[in-house]
Amino acid sequence: MSRSSADKRDIYYRLCAGIGYRARSAYKLLHLDEEFDLFRGVRVACDFCAAPGSWSQVLSRKLRPAGKKDPAKIVSIDLQPMAPLAGVTILHADITVPSTLNKMMDAMEEEKADLVVCDGAPEVTGVHDLDAYLHAQLLLAALTLALPLLAPGATLIFKIFLSPSDPTGEILISQLEPFFSYPQKGDELIDDTLGNPYEEGGCEVKGYDRYGRRGGVWVRKPRSSRAGSAEHFLVCRNFNPDTLPPSFDFKSLSHSVQSLSLDSFSAGERTSKEDEEKERRWQVIKGYTIGDLDCGR
Ligand SMILES: C[S@@+](CC[C@H](N)C(=O)[O-])C[C@H]1O[C@@H](n2cnc3c(N)ncnc32)[C@H](O)[C@@H]1O
Repeated sequence: MSRSSADKRDIYYRLCAGIGYRARSAYKLLHLDEEFDLFRGVRVACDFCAAPGSWSQVLSRKLRPAGKKDPAKIVSIDLQPMAPLAGVTILHADITVPSTLNKMMDAMEEEKADLVVCDGAPEVTGVHDLDAYLHAQLLLAALTLALPLLAPGATLIFKIFLSPSDPTGEILISQLEPFFSYPQKGDELIDDTLGNPYEEGGCEVKGYDRYGRRGGVWVRKPRSSRAGSAEHFLVCRNFNPDTLPPSFDFKSLSHSVQSLSLDSFSAGERTSKEDEEKERRWQVIKGYTIGDLDCGR
């Protein structure tokens, strides 16, 4: 069966054609929202790896509905050009490049994000181990870019591909859990007005984890994600900025990014040994994040 006839039989493909979403992926974010109530209280949102833009469309429809006073700010970024969307700031940039942090901070006008989503995927080579490595590096870059941008209590969502070496995502969860706390009932960040269905013997309710609390790190496969694919999503809730080292704050990171990035000095100005070393280090980091092992050699 050709790809297009398989697509035409797919319910989400047909639904998004009717509703005007640019890709069927829109439903993955909508289905995660059904469980996690992602958009409540969000004033600033970022969409990493956003093209062609269906997740940004969902963000725009949920956070900037017509007539809403004080609509949320949305910043979307991708390597590929993306058609404009009303109310969405679109950056054409690479999330693995250090200077992108400054571009994001400028676009967010120094405000922090309550929600960051990343549906990023590198170009596939067909060599499974290499693809898995490249995706892991993209994930690492997305996490590095997101952490200094997150507001206290924020939510971060990443696409991941589960592998035989971490079939349930337990290793990833354990690496991210230190940044996202599991608050207890009565904590400031829990909206107690929603009640706790678990205390009343009810079934699962939006936004609560299976212990009846908000927060923590979860692996989910929305029903719109194709059954045969290893694709899952990491949903990280209730970001705790106190877990970051002091050097990770907005301003000092922005400063170190400038001194690290090649953008800050042109070839003609690279006179000292120190500058040469700086460039070599930057190339090694770049090679590491984009998976090009020849960089910096
Ligand atoms: C699956 S698509 C995203 C679909 C999008 N969520 C939507 O709903 O329309 C993956 C995107 O990741 C982007 N991407 C991959 N590597 C990137 C990078 N280093 N920086 C920015 N975007 C990147 C690709 O250009 C591609 O558009």
